[in-house]
Amino acid sequence: MLAAEALAGLALEAGGYYVDATFGRGGHTALILQGLGREGRLLALDRDPQAIAAGRRRFADEMRLTLVHASFADLGTLVPAHADHRPCRGVLFDLGVSSPQLDDAQRGFSFRADGPLDMRLDPTHGEPVSAWLARASVDEIRQVIATFGEERFARRVAQAIVAARRTRALTRTGELAAVVAGAVRTREPGKHPATRTFQALRMYINDELGQLERGLAAALEVLSPGGRLAVISFHSLEDRAVKRFMQRESEVDPALRGLPAVPEAARPALKLIGRKTRPGETELARNPRARSALLRVAERLA
Ligand SMILES: C[S@@+](CC[C@H](N)C(=O)[O-])C[C@H]1O[C@@H](n2cnc3c(N)ncnc32)[C@H](O)[C@@H]1O
Repeated sequence: MLAAEALAGLALEAGGYYVDATFGRGGHTALILQGLGREGRLLALDRDPQAIAAGRRRFADEMRLTLVHASFADLGTLVPAHADHRPCRGVLFDLGVSSPQLDDAQRGFSFRADGPLDMRLDPTHGEPVSAWLARASVDEIRQVIATFGEERFARRVAQAIVAARRTRALTRTGELAAVVAGAVRTREPGKHPATRTFQALRMYINDELGQLERGLAAALEVLSPGGRLAVISFHSLEDRAVKRFMQRESEVDPALRGLPAVPEAARPALKLIGRKTRPGETELARNPRARSALLRVAERLA
């Protein structure tokens, strides 16, 4: 999604050091490697051990690539540990979940295919969403669904979940989807009534916005002057966080704006590059899921 545009945003230098913070199945990684020369290097991360295992098979002969099972929230230590003192010339984030994750019912992301109610991007850490739903209060569930799903009927959904779990533990995605569908009707054509609830629970159980905030701050820290930050977000909550971050880091502190010379520590760390980019008609026709994707690009300043 937005791959060509994101690659252009990175303005690849053939011998540069780059980070693909969200490896997925390696689509962007393959494109970056194509644009790098023999001296170029790429560090690719994913929180999902299955993604990394598939990547190790796909790129077994690729000596310019280092694949690491880690969160991009830890970029601040991962880049110095792997870059061998090379300046980092670009970091790419392609947020959200990959098609293989959504398509594998056993991962528990899908309300369409029944599977265990898990939803962890990294199943080696934390707890499945079913464990949290078994103990959370109506108000906690309501708040998560309202905040991360922007679901107007969050209270109704939370009450239905708590009522359902009195009779049986909710351990399957199919059960949860049916409980939500019984509590609210969809108001968006073509969307399952549980879409917002599933998105919210996934974002909560993986602390996706917290990780994003830490990942963006860490990217800023590791990029060398002139290095590019390219972020593809998948829905409005993510994009809002990216937009705010880039705006904040590209402006002079309002309290210091009137000074004849802005102190070095207060100068902006980023320069915005171009405007936000949406997928073109051809991409949307091929992949309707791309309709809410957005790319933003910025450059690290000295
Ligand atoms: C939309 S997919 C990326 C697809 C990829 N660009 C490609 O071309 O195949 C998002 C990926 O980011 C990973 N991810 C999500 N949060 C992460 C985090 N905090 N750290 C590292 N990877 C993360 C997910 O596991 C998923 O594989």
